[in-house]
Amino acid sequence: MAGMTTNAAWRYWNPTEILFGLDAVDGIGGKIGAGRYVLVTYDEPVFQAMTDRVIASAGKPAAVINGITTNPDYPVLEAACADYATARQAGPIDCIIALGGGSVIDAAKVLAAADGDFARVRRYLETGDGVADLTATPIIAVPTTAGTGSEVTCWATVWDSAAGKKHSLALPALYPRTAIVDPGLALGLPRALTVSTGLDALSHALESLWNVNANPVSASHAISAAKEILDVLPPLADDLQNSDLRTRLGKAATMAGLAFSNTKTALAHSLSYPITLHHGVAHGIACSFSLPTVMRWVAGADSDCDARLAAIFGQDLNAGADTLQAFLETLGVGTVPADHGVRAEEWRSLVEDALAGARGRNFLGDSAAVLADL
Ligand SMILES: NC(=O)c1ccc[n+]([C@@H]2O[C@H](COP(=O)([O-])OP(=O)(O)OC[C@H]3O[C@@H](n4cnc5c(N)ncnc54)[C@H](O)[C@@H]3O)[C@@H](O)[C@H]2O)c1
Ligand SMILES: [Fe+2]
Repeated sequence: MAGMTTNAAWRYWNPTEILFGLDAVDGIGGKIGAGRYVLVTYDEPVFQAMTDRVIASAGKPAAVINGITTNPDYPVLEAACADYATARQAGPIDCIIALGGGSVIDAAKVLAAADGDFARVRRYLETGDGVADLTATPIIAVPTTAGTGSEVTCWATVWDSAAGKKHSLALPALYPRTAIVDPGLALGLPRALTVSTGLDALSHALESLWNVNANPVSASHAISAAKEILDVLPPLADDLQNSDLRTRLGKAATMAGLAFSNTKTALAHSLSYPITLHHGVAHGIACSFSLPTVMRWVAGADSDCDARLAAIFGQDLNAGADTLQAFLETLGVGTVPADHGVRAEEWRSLVEDALAGARGRNFLGDSAAVLADL
């Protein structure tokens, strides 16, 4: 499929207000007013101090729901919705503050849609029915990782590990009302999480470029985000307390979020979900180790896409893919499926399935050529 031609019509839209800066979280009270709010976060000591900062600015919450775990799945979300229902019985909830990484922000979107009854969201995810029963309580997203971009997207990944499935809750009403991006919150993020979440953001940027839905605004955000992540992540991995580097990465991750908020992701993400489910690979690694391979598959397939990738990697895109591979390897991320426990036959069937799926169909590369290359 040909990419966007220069005179093609396009539309870009993102309704989320972004407040960016070191210590921006201390101004969160100004965004809540006198309303009752629920705070969603993890039950880990490092989040207690961040929770205290939110409360110092926003006042006492109606409830703190802190049972969210990474890649939130049905039981965790069901329990969180039950806690929300209890808070809701005491009075209306005006807003949800999500203080955490993608897992917490995505959980907040489920809470916003479920209004205390997880079964409604589950029904919609599994059957596509019941959208009229879903609500959209306003969300203020405060990301503590520089990765998912969930603070500026309208979808949430919901994991049903027992059934070996991943769902996407996607509703325009679920764009957070405000994203407070305070890069200082990530200063305590350990190296492995800094790298994996930063690579998730790089994947969002690149996946929005080799994408049938790319437009000039998404592409501009994606190019600037990708360049910045390539520059910043290696020095940051060796200097985790550097607030200038954290600030640059925080901005880039949100820019990547703005890019893919309009395009969705593509092949590398599609490939990642079964690898996370069946091999326990962190999302950011699962969706980035294949980027050099996917880039080689797309190089030459579409002139607009080639030009955008050249703005990041230079004119020779195969050399660019080598650079990307070396970048990942320097960060300790192997770039072949076997490095992540995926054998050749499994990889082949994953690629076939991914190309046929919704995210894979966003991919600008030529499916037949990809399959021939396996
Ligand atoms: N909605 C979207 O647009 C979107 C996009 C990409 C990924 N996702 C989803 O987001 C989830 C992953 O989110 P994530 O990568 O941000 O990680 P996460 O939210 O799962 O957090 C991972 C770990 O990092 C810790 N952590 C987070 N911030 C910290 C900090 N500042 N200091 C110390 N520890 C900290 C958490 O306690 C947790 O143990 C996955 O479920 C993925 O599918 C969603
Ligand atoms: Fe992602």
